[in-house]
Amino acid sequence: MKFFIDTANLKDIAEAQALGILDGVTTNPSLMAKEGITGKNNILKHYVDICNLVDGDVSAEVNALDLEGMIKEGEELADLHEQIVVKLPMTKEGIKACKYFSDRGIKTNVTLIFSPGQALLAAKAGATYCSPFLGRLDDVSTDGLNLIDEIRQIYDNYGFETQILAASVRHTMHVVNCAKIGADVMTGPLSSITGLLKHPLTDIGIAQFVADFEKGNK
Ligand code: E4P
Repeated sequence: MKFFIDTANLKDIAEAQALGILDGVTTNPSLMAKEGITGKNNILKHYVDICNLVDGDVSAEVNALDLEGMIKEGEELADLHEQIVVKLPMTKEGIKACKYFSDRGIKTNVTLIFSPGQALLAAKAGATYCSPFLGRLDDVSTDGLNLIDEIRQIYDNYGFETQILAASVRHTMHVVNCAKIGADVMTGPLSSITGLLKHPLTDIGIAQFVADFEKGNK
């Protein structure tokens, strides 16, 4: 499973990259706003800064909702850097834009997916990634993991190459369960990645090894 980090925070991205296990980055307009990145030029520059920090795909979301606007924005984003993936909303216009970009060999990520039917449409339109929002479904007491499981089944039935990008991952168990179900990618905050490092028995074991080594090597 690929690990993406879901943030526009350069420090968090650099920390995940330094671990050596990062495969890419996802952002969205809310995450950019959270970092205080506003204005077209600053936003475009920030995407380039992110691409320069990591080796993998970087999803950059269009803000337009009409087809013409999505194509204009998406082309501008794709021209920024070869790592950019054009992130499009799961709407009728978004699906048309997805087909437009995939026909031209530009990578796409269809976002805000909450049903298997939406995921099927994204795959039919040639999306590189489809992003089901696990955590936001869990937030409204609906089983987000079940959606990912259903999409896995549908994509496997027909050999769709669209990758299931489990999004809105909030914590380590989401990551582990996504891996068990067979999501191709997960994207979550830095804590959902670094939290995987932790186990109290590891800490106790290290303390014991250090103490025993020091005893024997005084
Ligand atoms: C996905 O690409 C989104 O950026 C993201 O995962 C949404 O997560 P949230 O529900 O925690 O905002």
